[in-house]
This record gives sequence, C-alpha cells and structure tokens, in this order.
Amino acid sequence: MRAADEPLAAAAQAIQHARRLVVLTGAGVSRESGIPTFRDALEGLWAQYDPQQLASPAGFRRDPTLVWQWYAARRRAVAAAQPNAAHIALARLGAVKATTLITQNVDGLHEAAGSTAVLHLHGALDRYKCVDRGHGHDIALETLPDAPPPCSVCGALLRPDVVWFGEMLPPEILSRAIAATEQADLMLVVGTSGLVHPAASLPLLAAQCGAVTIEVNPEATALTPHMTLSLRGAAGALLPALVDSL
Ligand code: APR
Repeated sequence: MRAADEPLAAAAQAIQHARRLVVLTGAGVSRESGIPTFRDALEGLWAQYDPQQLASPAGFRRDPTLVWQWYAARRRAVAAAQPNAAHIALARLGAVKATTLITQNVDGLHEAAGSTAVLHLHGALDRYKCVDRGHGHDIALETLPDAPPPCSVCGALLRPDVVWFGEMLPPEILSRAIAATEQADLMLVVGTSGLVHPAASLPLLAAQCGAVTIEVNPEATALTPHMTLSLRGAAGALLPALVDSL
C-alpha cells in the first residue's frame, strides 16, 4: 500500500464498521458535473446583479420576474448536467449501507444518480411554493412560465422553493438532519467549505456526539481541524475508490 492510500484505507475501514452513516454534501460534489456555484453563475447577463437582489425575499418583492428568470436559468443549466462519479458512488454507498444523505445543493443530482430520501437543507431548484402560505408545487421545466404564476390553492405568487439569504432552513428537514447526525457513528463530509451555518454545524455536532468524521475535499476547510480523517482530492476520484474498497 502506498502512503497516499492510507487515509483512504482507514476511511474505508471506518465506514465498514459504521452502523449509522450520515453524508453531508456541498457544492464541491457537483463541481465535476460543471454546476457553477451561486456566485460563479453570476456571469454574463447576470453579472450586473447583486446576490441579494436575486436570492432574498426583498429582492423577490422588488422584482419577482427577474428572480423567477434567474432561477429558471439556473434550473436549465442543471437540467443539462449529468451526475458525476461522486454522486454515483454516494448512491452506491446508500444501497449497501443505511445512510442519511443531507445536501446543501439545490441541483437534484443526487436523486438523478439514484439516491433516495435526500434531505435538502437549502431546497431544490425544481420545486416551487407560494410566497404567502408555502403551498408546494412541481412545475415541469418544459412548462415553466416566464414570470411567477399564481398559486392554484390561494392565488399568491409562486417562488422557487430554495432557501434565500436571511431565511430559515426548512425546520422539519433541519430537525431530521440534526436527529440523524446525533445518532450517527460516522459522518462523511463532501465538497463543502464549512462556512455556511447551520449546515456547517452538523459535522461539529457529529464530532461532539462521538462520531468518526471524514472530510473529502481537495482543500483544507473550516471543518478540517474537527475531522477525524481528511481525504484530499476530488470527490469524483476519491468516493468511487472508497466505495469500491468497502
Ligand atoms: N470534490 C470535492 N470538493 C470540491 C471539489 C471536488 N471536485 N471541488 C471543489 N471542492 C470543494 C471546495 O474546496 C470547497 O471547500 O467544495 C467546496 C465548495 O464550497 P462552497 O462553494 O462554499 O459550497 P458549500 O459549502 O456547498 O456552500 C454552502 O452556500 O452558496 C451558498 O447556499 C449555497 O448551499 C450553498 C452554501
């Protein structure tokens, strides 16, 4: 075994022994699918806008159609993308071990790779809800209108069902994520900078509760000092190797 393989072998062994596994993913897991992060996507026509204008309740009140079109453009970009080897490896992991998959991503690529019951902390680009009472709606991309339509239940405008600046995370999803984290004996933290809370608090909670914590990221992050093991590299290379070695 090469020295560089040792953390991978140690991680595989820890996963083999784990009984309650939690995986937390961030934008890095979708990097190899070509999904730009929120800020990276602010290019071309969109470069003139401030993130607060495009992703906040106040921005939506000010110009609902602008915000709607920005999210429609992001959704179209995601629809053209494919899950990568990291998403596929996590779906395989979920098939062989009881796993709770928690994601900060809104792109739906975990489901496209075959993962089920994914906890979406920050919502999903293909779901909508009304601004007044949160009535949920699915709209197919092919039938997406150019401006926010009214809710068929109450008539209020629909908005993307994603978490905007200054908003709370969906409470039920967050409490399920916290409960799974408290019960986990191992947490795998993939492709997140660990800067955005409360998502970034979950690995800290797992560590406090005595779980083994394993980070997969090409770079050191705010979470690295709290991790049991850090695997340095791209998720699309490391996760298939990890799952293959189980
Ligand atoms: N494999 C694994 N990790 C990667 C890869 C890769 N191929 N490429 C980049 N990364 C890592 C980066 O090193 C970085 O640590 O992914 C992380 C991405 O960090 P952020 O862009 O901050 O993404 P995330 O942590 O998901 O941000 C949280 O912030 O923008 C808001 O709501 C948005 O959900 C998002 C939240």
